[in-house]
Amino acid sequence: MENKFIQKCNTLEDTKKLACKFAQLVKESGCFVNLFGEIGAGKTAFVRLTAEALGVKEKVTSPSFVILNEYHSASIPVYHFDLYRLENVGISTIADELREYSEGKKITFVEWAEFSQGELPFERIEINVTYDDDDSRVYEFSSIGKKNNYVIEGLKK
Ligand SMILES: Nc1ncnc2c1ncn2[C@@H]1O[C@H](COP(=O)(O)OP(=O)(O)O)[C@@H](O)[C@H]1O
Ligand SMILES: [Mg+2]
Repeated sequence: MENKFIQKCNTLEDTKKLACKFAQLVKESGCFVNLFGEIGAGKTAFVRLTAEALGVKEKVTSPSFVILNEYHSASIPVYHFDLYRLENVGISTIADELREYSEGKKITFVEWAEFSQGELPFERIEINVTYDDDDSRVYEFSSIGKKNNYVIEGLKK
């Protein structure tokens, strides 16, 4: 089974539609989501739009300086990590802690910069965001482990 879904979003409005669809798919069971892409690609934008679609009432901002933001105003808790600052420390140091955030009914987003492509030892969705020009972005979704294949299948519909 193909476990990838690729969507080109020409405008922020297109990205919002994609995020709404994603939110509908993950809002019952939860999901651990890893986002890759250079600075300004649209990782935080996707997290914000998904959180809003889930019903998060607070303002969703980049957690670059605090590492983790959490939101408890939607029907499912939303956690948002930005590991940009852990560049030199490595993924292995935090993998065990992240695993806890991949379990149970919650949605966890982890923003990761290009350089830290790391293997995590649990099932997840990976989203790779690339720039085209102007407001155009390409979002590529992969499911790692079969638990999340339904998300990819749902996005295709
Ligand atoms: N189609 C689009 N999808 C996502 N973001 C877009 C799009 N068009 C323009 N943008 C803008 O690009 C910027 C992406 O920044 P951000 O999400 O903070 O990037 P990252 O978290 O990857 O560093 C935001 O200012 C957003 O409004
Ligand atoms: Mg960001």
